[in-house]
Amino acid sequence: MKIVIKKDYVELSKFAALEVKNIVEDNPNCTLGLATGSTPLGLYKELIKLYNLGEINFSSVTTFNLDEYRGLNEEDEQSYKYFMNDNLFNHINIDKNNTFIPNGIAEDVERECENYEKLIGEKGGIDLQVLGIGMNGHIGFNEPNQELYLNTHLETLTEETLNSNSIFFTNKEKMPTEALTMGIGSIMKAKKIILLISGKNKAEVVKKLVSGKITTDFPASILQVHNDCTVILDEEAAALLNK
Ligand code: GLP
Repeated sequence: MKIVIKKDYVELSKFAALEVKNIVEDNPNCTLGLATGSTPLGLYKELIKLYNLGEINFSSVTTFNLDEYRGLNEEDEQSYKYFMNDNLFNHINIDKNNTFIPNGIAEDVERECENYEKLIGEKGGIDLQVLGIGMNGHIGFNEPNQELYLNTHLETLTEETLNSNSIFFTNKEKMPTEALTMGIGSIMKAKKIILLISGKNKAEVVKKLVSGKITTDFPASILQVHNDCTVILDEEAAALLNK
């Protein structure tokens, strides 16, 4: 696992955008794995800027998002589908038919998860996976547990995740308690991974991430064995690392 420390969130986002740009430049038909949450917002802003400057072309790019809340459809402002359209896809020249997110309102969830996993394989796998991290070490929505799932599956969200993500929901009662998410295996199969971590509230999380141990209690710890994973931090998130 490689660690890159940038001065602040803006620099972190710019660095991440260049990583994406390089992949798209090398292979205009590439497949990107994308994340939601507040951390990648800066990256998406930078990508929109690069697109407006004519420096990146998404016309042949395919994307797979990590996860979606169970029960929310794409018109729901809290759905990750809405989030991706609003924060990235509506502002770049990507063909929306090539943007995939698990269907939160699928009747047959099991089949939806199986199909999603299959589709990633059919598209040749993920070339670059963008990740954020939850306060409990979750990636996608793979929550700490005794066992972790390899493939896309339905996950029950932990109290901790419900609390931290509730800031996005005006009506907390309506917050889904389950999500469809790519599994640990789906993520680890990505050829390259960039994990973005920002802010002082994530400094402890970073310390755990680089602990040198792997535990299902902290799902992101598995990334330590990926052979092309770069963790991009800002100085605040890196505060507790030994220099
Ligand atoms: C959600 C997403 C994760 C994301 C996490 C962190 O739970 N499912 O993919 O990494 O939020 O969010 P934030 O970047 O807002 O801290």
